[in-house]
Amino acid sequence: MRSSSNSDPNHGPVPGRRILLALCGGIAAYKSAELARRFIKAGCEVQVVMTDSALRFIGAQTFQALTGKPVRSSLWDEAAEAAMGHIELARWPDAIVIAPATANTLAKIAHGFADDLLTTLVLATDKPIFVAPAMNRLMWANAATQANMSTLRSRGFKVIGPGSGAQACGEVGEGRVAEPEDVAAVVLAALASGSAAKALDGPLSGRRAVVTAGPTREPIDPVRFITNRSSGKQGYAVAEALRALGAEVTLVSGPVNLETPAGVQRIDCETAQDMLDATVAACATADILVGTAAVADYRCVEVAGQKIKKKTETLELELTKNADILSEVRSLQPQLFIVGFAAETEKLAEHAKGKLARKKLNLIAANWVGNGRAFDRDDNALTVYWADGELAIGPADKREVAGQLAGLIAERYAAACNTAASSTKARKAK
Ligand code: CTP
Repeated sequence: MRSSSNSDPNHGPVPGRRILLALCGGIAAYKSAELARRFIKAGCEVQVVMTDSALRFIGAQTFQALTGKPVRSSLWDEAAEAAMGHIELARWPDAIVIAPATANTLAKIAHGFADDLLTTLVLATDKPIFVAPAMNRLMWANAATQANMSTLRSRGFKVIGPGSGAQACGEVGEGRVAEPEDVAAVVLAALASGSAAKALDGPLSGRRAVVTAGPTREPIDPVRFITNRSSGKQGYAVAEALRALGAEVTLVSGPVNLETPAGVQRIDCETAQDMLDATVAACATADILVGTAAVADYRCVEVAGQKIKKKTETLELELTKNADILSEVRSLQPQLFIVGFAAETEKLAEHAKGKLARKKLNLIAANWVGNGRAFDRDDNALTVYWADGELAIGPADKREVAGQLAGLIAERYAAACNTAASSTKARKAK
């Protein structure tokens, strides 16, 4: 598996990029030392800013040693201000990363406060801002926090996490800060692809989408493989269309002969297992997954080490089932908005609706395949089904179809977010 941007976003250098890493007060602050180390290792220059509360959790010396720069924490530090005033500091970075971001600081930012160095920098910058929220699960679920997050997302802030699991307070739920490797991967990928600099306005601004596309290849021996007719065109067009609506898009692609759409981060993979691993990793910080890939359903039980010779009249290959990527991701992320595709040669509606239910998808886009339809062509027609509706799209050029599908995804995604918010409200009212 490899990323097609300048370098592997997890490990490769993003030389000379400047990151302002801001820490709020929370037990998760210790994880930011690892985050700073990852940014430095990738070749970035890092300036750390800490709130007064962050200084209660971890020492500034740790970050000074890691970054080689004194930590900034006050608007009133005369020596630091003389060296670089706060407005200059707000202009300095290529990206600002607030990790951990507490409920309090997120609320202040959402309402335009500037009562400490961190919030002043945020108000005085036009640079992309990534936030990794960290808080108790009820604080995260609180309608006030969720409203603040909606405001921030709509203004183009990129929200990474939070994850779910055991919390420092002893409770279990959503609100754990995203792991340093995940935060670093998102920020470095955005810097490497140039997408960090361009927060696009649109209904999916601040949202992260993962799109799987193309075929997979299952090796038989060193020179042969099992694959299918998928060209990846529809998936690439969907990635491009979601990006045009403002989403940050990661395209997990099988082997295809297509240009990566502008501003989209692409991860190349070959087998279904590669695609599963890449998709699970990319989805850890995503809001939407669209599975357009034609994933091989089976792989060889044994891959021959040498080229198989033509010695026998018949040849039997024993195949075993591959994991279903969408179902695997669904079991890991019950809240993710997942869109599947259904490629059918018969009983389109019946099979598609079956997959919608079986794979616990939010939407399924069904299309006829075979006899020259859909695969390796420039046009397509879809019928999209969801729990209580359906919509026919096309026949039209695949990019036109993708544009309409992306619009529907944005609409249904917003509806799902509203439903989730009102059920949280209803639970709280009881
Ligand atoms: N899919 C997946 N992982 C697989 C197989 C399919 O994520 N191992 C996804 C596809 O990307 C698509 C959806 O599941 O979004 C349906 O794919 P399709 O090939 O139509 O259906 P299958 O689930 O493979 O079922 P069948 O082959 O029996 O029709």
